[in-house]
Amino acid sequence: MKNVSMDTITQAFLDYCGEETDPRTLFVLSKMVEHAHAFAKETQLTHAEWMRGLKFLYDAGQISSPERNEFVLLSDVTGMSSLVDMIGSQHDGTSSSVLGPFHSVGAPEMDVGGDLKQDNEGATVVVEGYVRSIGGAPVEGARIELWQTAENGLYYSQDAAQEDFNLCCTLTTGPDGRYALTTVKPAPYKVPDDGPVGELFRATGRTPWRPSHLHFIVQAEGHKTLVTEVFADGDPYLDRDAVFGVREDLIMDYAEHTDHAALPPDLAVGQNVTLPWYKVDFDFVLAPENG
Ligand code: BEZ
Ligand code: FE
Repeated sequence: MKNVSMDTITQAFLDYCGEETDPRTLFVLSKMVEHAHAFAKETQLTHAEWMRGLKFLYDAGQISSPERNEFVLLSDVTGMSSLVDMIGSQHDGTSSSVLGPFHSVGAPEMDVGGDLKQDNEGATVVVEGYVRSIGGAPVEGARIELWQTAENGLYYSQDAAQEDFNLCCTLTTGPDGRYALTTVKPAPYKVPDDGPVGELFRATGRTPWRPSHLHFIVQAEGHKTLVTEVFADGDPYLDRDAVFGVREDLIMDYAEHTDHAALPPDLAVGQNVTLPWYKVDFDFVLAPENG
């Protein structure tokens, strides 16, 4: 198209896309360009501002590596990851939440009731609950992956002092859908802020902190895979999570216990728990695969 104008440039882009373009790709791409062009017009974007944005993306590419993806972090801190999560999980099951960059495939298997805390410093938390379908039926054979930070707010992959797969495990539910384990109380921590995303935080007066949380992936036949997190009621960062992961149904009480009376009877640690210990009761409700 010749003589492209501000009014015709969006259609000109669409006209350049050939008939062989996959329909969904064409739809998503056309909407993205429509919104980007509308954004430039609405903001009367200057050349200098656009170049600043492109430099940001260039810097994000420069700092990224197989171990660190600054674009995923950008998606997280702008709310895009959470928005896409919420679009994909509009059902009556447990809310999903961000995966984050610290999930490791291949976490060791642990029996129900097992001890993940081992020699880690910090207060003991007993996490216990059931995996159920919407409607309440227990889910046998559900695989629950859990990963979390140590008391210092670091994942094992960020901290040379921790062993590989420290505070990561995989459990499988029995016929009653129950799971239980002992672990350490996680701590709030900062998302990486030494790159362009950190600059964005500082330029906008935002905090890079996340409230303390336990990460879970729950998989079971016939059900949608659930990627979620469990947060602690009263955490100072619940209302300003840097990556917008907090949902009301994921905030749990860490009930304090000052004696051993309420410990579940099948824990591998038995009564060998320092006081006070904390109890989190959390059930996972899975949506049907084709719901
Ligand atoms: C995390 O929870 O581990 C996380 C999530 C998003 C960005 C950075 C860290
Ligand atoms: Fe995390």
